Amino acid sequence: MIKLSARTRVSELMAGPPALYTTLKSTGLFRDGDDPEVMLGQLCWAFGFNPAILLMMLEGANVPEVVAPIDAAPFRAMPLGELVDHIESTHHAYLRAELPRLTASVDTLALEAGETESAIELRDEMRRMASELDAHIQHEEESLFAMVRDLAARSAIKPTRCGGTVGGPIACMENEHGATLRGLAKLRELTDSYSVTADASASRRETMAALERFDRDMQEHIFKENEVLFPRAMEAQRGQPQAASA
Ligand SMILES: [Fe+2]
Ligand SMILES: [Fe+2]
Repeated sequence: MIKLSARTRVSELMAGPPALYTTLKSTGLFRDGDDPEVMLGQLCWAFGFNPAILLMMLEGANVPEVVAPIDAAPFRAMPLGELVDHIESTHHAYLRAELPRLTASVDTLALEAGETESAIELRDEMRRMASELDAHIQHEEESLFAMVRDLAARSAIKPTRCGGTVGGPIACMENEHGATLRGLAKLRELTDSYSVTADASASRRETMAALERFDRDMQEHIFKENEVLFPRAMEAQRGQPQAASA
């Protein structure tokens, strides 16, 4: 991940996660062969593009490269309605049960560690992620999943607060997934990838193991949504004219 601002040069951006450069090119502001020493702010100025919007788009792609955590084939073959049922009953149910336990365990660790700076940072990051994920899965179920179930039933999409097409909530969800992946990278950094010393307490061992499970589950969850569900929902909507005009 790199720090992005209007003063970031394209050459610096090219050294970051590959999705950053792909996203920049998708805007049409920069093409292969253009001067890579140009700053993002200069590009926006030249094209009359709002730099805040460009930075927001790039932040969504500013996440570490993750190796596919699972084999996507079974989820690509699953009927669309079953896929959202699976994500809800597996990953959303896991989060609803686990997030309160995990935040309580990390709170306890901070107290046990005498509230050191790194323990407080870990506690605050976990609390922030738990609160954002709670809202995220609720929003996902009420907007995107409801629309996908309409598509799966081959009926018109009932508009939600995110509009009447799947593109709106998908853009929003992808952005939030980017924030979650950055949060997971922060957890790994603060815990030295969930490692424990030989004399670590039982509660510390259990909490690190639980955090590692949470990290793995979250990566699988996001992979299924970003790489399988979202493209399939877009495809299903394209095949249903009555849904696209709803
Ligand atoms: Fe989800
Ligand atoms: Fe999600």
